[in-house]
Amino acid sequence: MLKPLALLLALGTPVYAQVRVVSPDGRNRVSVEVQQGRLYYSVQRDGRPLLLPSLLGFEFRGAPPLRDSLRLVDTTRTTFDETWTQPWGEVRRVRDHHNELKVTFAETAAPSRQFTVAFRLFNDGVGFRYEFPDQPNLKDFAITDELTEFSIADDARAWWIPSNRPRLDRSEMLYSSSPVSVIDSIQTPLTMETRDGKTFVVIHEANLVDYARMFLSGPRMQSRTLRAALAPYADGTKVYGRTPFVTPWRTIQIADRATDLSPSLLGLKLNPPSVIPNTSWIKPMKYVGIWWGMHINTMTWSSGPKHGATTANAKRYIDFAAANGLGGVLVEGWNVGWDGDWIQNRNAFSFTKPYPDYDLPEVARYAQAKGVKLIVHNETSGGLENYERQIDSAYTLYQSLGLDAIKSGYVADLVGEGGGHSHYGQYMVRHHRLVIEKAAQHGIMLDVHEPIHDTGERRTYPNMMSREGARGQEYNAWSSEGGNPPEHETILFFTRMLAGPMDFTPGIFDILIERGTGRPRRPEESRVRTTLAKQLALYVVLYSPLQMAADLPENYEHQPAFQFIRDVAVDWDTTRVLEGKIGDYVVVARRERNRPTWFIGAITDEEARSFDIPLSFLTPGRRYTAEIYADGPKANWLTNPLPVTISRRPVTAATRLHLALAPGGGTAIRIRRVD
Ligand code: NOJ
Ligand code: CA
Repeated sequence: MLKPLALLLALGTPVYAQVRVVSPDGRNRVSVEVQQGRLYYSVQRDGRPLLLPSLLGFEFRGAPPLRDSLRLVDTTRTTFDETWTQPWGEVRRVRDHHNELKVTFAETAAPSRQFTVAFRLFNDGVGFRYEFPDQPNLKDFAITDELTEFSIADDARAWWIPSNRPRLDRSEMLYSSSPVSVIDSIQTPLTMETRDGKTFVVIHEANLVDYARMFLSGPRMQSRTLRAALAPYADGTKVYGRTPFVTPWRTIQIADRATDLSPSLLGLKLNPPSVIPNTSWIKPMKYVGIWWGMHINTMTWSSGPKHGATTANAKRYIDFAAANGLGGVLVEGWNVGWDGDWIQNRNAFSFTKPYPDYDLPEVARYAQAKGVKLIVHNETSGGLENYERQIDSAYTLYQSLGLDAIKSGYVADLVGEGGGHSHYGQYMVRHHRLVIEKAAQHGIMLDVHEPIHDTGERRTYPNMMSREGARGQEYNAWSSEGGNPPEHETILFFTRMLAGPMDFTPGIFDILIERGTGRPRRPEESRVRTTLAKQLALYVVLYSPLQMAADLPENYEHQPAFQFIRDVAVDWDTTRVLEGKIGDYVVVARRERNRPTWFIGAITDEEARSFDIPLSFLTPGRRYTAEIYADGPKANWLTNPLPVTISRRPVTAATRLHLALAPGGGTAIRIRRVD
């Protein structure tokens, strides 16, 4: 039997048809309508428009656009409610409760193609994707443009990084903030705050498997309509596909307060469940590495007198990790290929052959004997084919040596043999998927630098642990623009971090990088633009299941504040954002997984701030001790970054803790049960 709407359409096709779906709490609503053959969706929150009618559709090579003469032919509705336990994460349990509306459209004119748009309405936002069934007139196709629009109702304030820098096809920029009407070409997640401050909206994507990454191209003052802009192949094609085919989900996260944006779980709900049956080998950890030395020039990746990756050095780092309860040691520059211009010489990298002064089997044996995991570094410089040619032999070797974690790297503007494909296009997406699957087969966890942005892959492949994909600590070592300003991490938390974990590499104690040059630096030179206490707070604020203690081991010696890095957890049961204003400050409390221990991280921009934090999240009636690492007297990121005051006090659920953060400062706290 025909459904009422289809019946109506069959009887006499109206020029206008509309269907709606709401979130389980009734607050978010999507309306889908066809007007003069074109398809639009819009989004409301509490009856107020967030997205005005926004076009959907595609352009293809060698075929007419899928955009005109559309007719609504069918709708189906379902409700879904399921809660799952994450193997690791910023929360243990995730509830996926949504209403789904699938709307099928057909062209009334030739070539009479059909497709469905699936909308999922959650209390924390909306996801939608296109689904193309197998059909006679749509088999193999090449998408030249996705026409999806996001027509923002309010001239909201947006925080963004550009996507159109010609020489840096990456994500390592500082954030800008502007009204949405003046943004140009930007990366997602795009975080926006309506002018009345009452609604926060984040546009991103989920489940990017075999498609191109989505950027947004801006309205350039003409309107407030953002359009999907897909990263291209060298020849300009965006996506090759064959029906049946589904696109990634386009996501619109919605919250009443900035503090409700995090942890962002919408993307995880739009990825399939784990395909790894036994995840017991996948374990969050802290790690140190032969790494910062290269960035501050005391060591080299390449061979020579300053070569960092020597057997002796690696053993020293392993001893340090073992002595301090840190789970892993990263060694960069261990494999041949770093001599000369390693970015140009991308195909010279071997992923199995160590430099002569690095005895890989011996280092692996030593690490295992000390109970430390050796993290293998694989820099590809974007030489995807060179990496793929070696991936089986390399991963087989690592597995045979008991090595189960890789930090990879893609320092390159364009990728692919002959060059020219976008760092973010389908060509690269397919490469990353291949690597994730191979790593899963070989029991390897991944930490990807210069990655494609996180679209929730970790749900399906929990071995996809962390990634960079933003401007990390390394910029403080060498950036000619003066590193990361004090507000940087307070923006990251509400933008980049909404996509997923980030390997930011916190924990630099030698704030002025005196060891790098042998003398104190002037403030305008490379240095860290935080206080030392803020470096500690970043362990709680910036979530990563692989969390680095980034400084040289010698810089942690005789430092009482290092105890916090030893103690801080990397896997969480619960996360609560207690205070937050984008670009100004964040206060986060997280409870360690399987323990009654809480950690608090508070950070500020260049302004001093204070907070009164009620500890009502603690279990009432229990007694706890708070160990507080605060900015010391007269601390200031610019003039006096080092003083840290460490204190202890008894607390309960009834306590209000007063936190005083210095300019560019922070506070880090561990709260342990004592009864
Ligand atoms: C950039 C990465 O972000 C950094 O961590 C690494 O050391 C270098 N590339 C070399 O691979
Ligand atoms: Ca990087």
